[in-house]
Amino acid sequence: MAPVDVPVALLGYGTVGAAVNRFLHENAGDIERATGHRLRVVKALVRDLKKERDFPAAPGILTTDFAEIADNPKLSLVAEVMGGLDPTHKYILRLLESGKPVVTANKQLLAQRGAELFATAQEAGVQLRFEASVCAAIPVIKVLRESLVVTNVHRILGIVNGTTNYILTQMELGASYEEALAEAKHYGYAEIDPTEDVSGADAAAKMAILATVAFGSRVTLADVQFEGVEHINSAHVAAARQMDMVIRLIGQAALVDGRYDVRVSPALVDRAHPLASVEGPFNAVMLQGDAIREITLEGPGAGGIETASAVIADMVSIIGTTGAGFLHNDACWRTLDRLPAGELRSPFYMQISVDDRPGVLARVAECLASHSVSVARLVQTQVEGGATLHVVSHEATYGAIEGALEEIRGLPESREISAAFPVISQRGISELGWT
Ligand SMILES: NC(=O)c1ccc[n+]([C@@H]2O[C@H](COP(=O)([O-])OP(=O)(O)OC[C@H]3O[C@@H](n4cnc5c(N)ncnc54)[C@H](OP(=O)(O)O)[C@@H]3O)[C@@H](O)[C@H]2O)c1
Repeated sequence: MAPVDVPVALLGYGTVGAAVNRFLHENAGDIERATGHRLRVVKALVRDLKKERDFPAAPGILTTDFAEIADNPKLSLVAEVMGGLDPTHKYILRLLESGKPVVTANKQLLAQRGAELFATAQEAGVQLRFEASVCAAIPVIKVLRESLVVTNVHRILGIVNGTTNYILTQMELGASYEEALAEAKHYGYAEIDPTEDVSGADAAAKMAILATVAFGSRVTLADVQFEGVEHINSAHVAAARQMDMVIRLIGQAALVDGRYDVRVSPALVDRAHPLASVEGPFNAVMLQGDAIREITLEGPGAGGIETASAVIADMVSIIGTTGAGFLHNDACWRTLDRLPAGELRSPFYMQISVDDRPGVLARVAECLASHSVSVARLVQTQVEGGATLHVVSHEATYGAIEGALEEIRGLPESREISAAFPVISQRGISELGWT
């Protein structure tokens, strides 16, 4: 049977866009066998027609005029791989309104303006798919929306930013933060301006998307508290090693008593935990749910071909299905309240520098106790004229930890609180050693 011809367009023909076109050329046979369709890029929007491309497009494909895509009634779908909020936002709205399904890799756009885009898609009865926006080649959106539809996923732990994971694993090998960042840039794992990655904003956008899909309630970037890796130093790495742990930038989304909490911060991860072995630019997402206990998906979380494979998977899903139903778009069917900022519970590691004076330990312990923070382990190391206290607490709320640290900061002997990280471990906290 002759394949169905499917003309598609791309917004953007950079790292990902060119890789999508290459894949569609080189794997046309695979797609045709799987779907009976032959996808063909007929237009791709760029800014500069003269730029050299990794996989040059055939003559006449590249355009700088969005109208050539928006006004083409023959297009079956459009993949947005240009990034940015504007003009991308209005382009996607226009495409959806005109009845064209859209696939996007744009996490910031979805995390900040997803509500309007998905509402528009819903109204127009077309699909807006976004697998490539989170963890590139790892099919986590599909797994959450389709494979785990009855599972009630209530917690997600993720390493969802490859740049920071690369930096942290290089620091474990002895590099300083600056050296590790320079290396990440050298190998192409970090952008020239790495702010979005190292500040945690990239991971926060991805966690907002994952939480939205998992909990079925809109979570935006503004709902995610995030902190990056800029302040991690070799003393933090050494302290983690002492406890047989590693530092990772962890995204956490939790559903607690019908309210959600989504955050990104550096965390100490027990070496025995599956996320501790995720190294270099790799990503992993651990999903915890009623029926599944836990599933961990791991793989390359960025890169042109990796992202393109997810874009094409979404294209294939669109041409292989018809109509618009529950599984399409992000399927928000309820509105949950956000858990008040301080209420989430976790064990914590704190690194507190103090003057070495009699009674200081007791005063620190009093501050912790007055906020009901119970200490599981306390190790004191001597430094020039003072001491560093390494404190591991039993589970406490973020609010209690903040309150206790505020009080400790006010002690006359207090010098600096240089770390307060949640601890992620499947072992009991008291079993964690200090070697
Ligand atoms: N690269 C990755 O590893 C990766 C991973 C996951 C998700 N993503 C997401 O995928 C998207 C694309 O990333 P990328 O790495 O392929 O970016 P990129 O290499 O910078 O390519 C962007 C493309 O969009 C075009 N473009 C940008 N703004 C435009 C505008 N205002 N009008 C017309 N064309 C415009 C550029 O045109 P010119 O070529 O003429 O400049 C370029 O072809 C982003 O949303 C990114 O966050 C990327």
